[in-house]
Amino acid sequence: MAKVLVTGGLGFIGSHTVVELQNEGFEVVIIDDLSNSSIEFLDRIESITSIRPLFEQIDLRIKSKVKTFFQTHSDLVGVVHFAASKAVGESVEQPLLYYENNLVSLINVLESIQELDQSNFIFSSSCTVYGQADILPITEDAPIKKAESPYGNTKQIGEEILADLCKINKDLKVISLRYFNPIGAHESAKIGELPIGIPQNLVPYITQTAIGMREELSVFGDDYPTEDGTCIRDYIHVVDLAKAHVVALKRVLNGQNISNLETFNLGTGKGSSVLEVVKAFERVSGQKLKYRIASRREGDITAAYADTSKANSELGWEAELTLDDAMRSAWKWEQELRKNS
Ligand code: WQD
Repeated sequence: MAKVLVTGGLGFIGSHTVVELQNEGFEVVIIDDLSNSSIEFLDRIESITSIRPLFEQIDLRIKSKVKTFFQTHSDLVGVVHFAASKAVGESVEQPLLYYENNLVSLINVLESIQELDQSNFIFSSSCTVYGQADILPITEDAPIKKAESPYGNTKQIGEEILADLCKINKDLKVISLRYFNPIGAHESAKIGELPIGIPQNLVPYITQTAIGMREELSVFGDDYPTEDGTCIRDYIHVVDLAKAHVVALKRVLNGQNISNLETFNLGTGKGSSVLEVVKAFERVSGQKLKYRIASRREGDITAAYADTSKANSELGWEAELTLDDAMRSAWKWEQELRKNS
């Protein structure tokens, strides 16, 4: 059974990708430092697939630990790399933490993967590299704008590191996946988004408000140049996103990649405003959501949604689940999570 390393595999997108990799018959080994995830997700993944992933708690900033891991697991056929700190606001407060964790970890993994017979690498990137794009929908060749946060900058620098490496190492095959806004949860409600503290992102804040953990949702501004005045994003179901990682890994394993560095936008191709997301939640939950219009949030862009034609045609992947599907699964996950608390 082909063995794949998933770094950050106990996190939100990582855990959903582990499930889809196991569903496709891969053996999965997870590295996670548990800084923003919970070891109980190992049990949760096993309860879905009946296969317990291998797991090692490693801080990827420690080169010696990474090297030892790869020497032990020299039969790996590929790496799906999620491990990174990802809170935009926190990255502004603690830039060095983000540059060290996100870039040193990436460099250590890249150094070790080149020792393997097969160096296939799927990189977790983000639409944040585009900033506020001049043209919508956003294609992969849209200009990369100056990052608005250290977090976004680590994704841009990460992509540049990969580009420089792929130039001189043609044995290294890389696919960089630029996510739009991942939301929702596995249909089993056994895994989902688990924000630590007050959620920064819209959908977990909505479900925590609805379950009674938060007083009300603050809608950050309704004076943007959009139809209803609120910001527009491309909300993609995390299960669709996870499946795209399996498709990308198989593409490089089967040698179907056209060059040894490919980049794909992963979104639904549809933009939804904040108020449309609220309405979707109310529709699927059957309950009204308490919210108020607040002032704009620093650093927010007006609108972003993906041109998915490259992923559809070249990767042979498209999002199948809708905004309502995602909100329904997010709400089911929140209710399940709080049932026992
Ligand atoms: C979405 C919209 C807010 C919270 C960020 C990162 C991105 C990725 C996803 C890591 C915006 C509005 C939000 C709230 C609100 N993260 N909002 N009230 O900022 O598009 O993307 O998370 O990879 O890289 O940049 O997502 O969910 O924070 O915000 O009105 O309480 O919801 O203003 O318009 P964002 P978000």
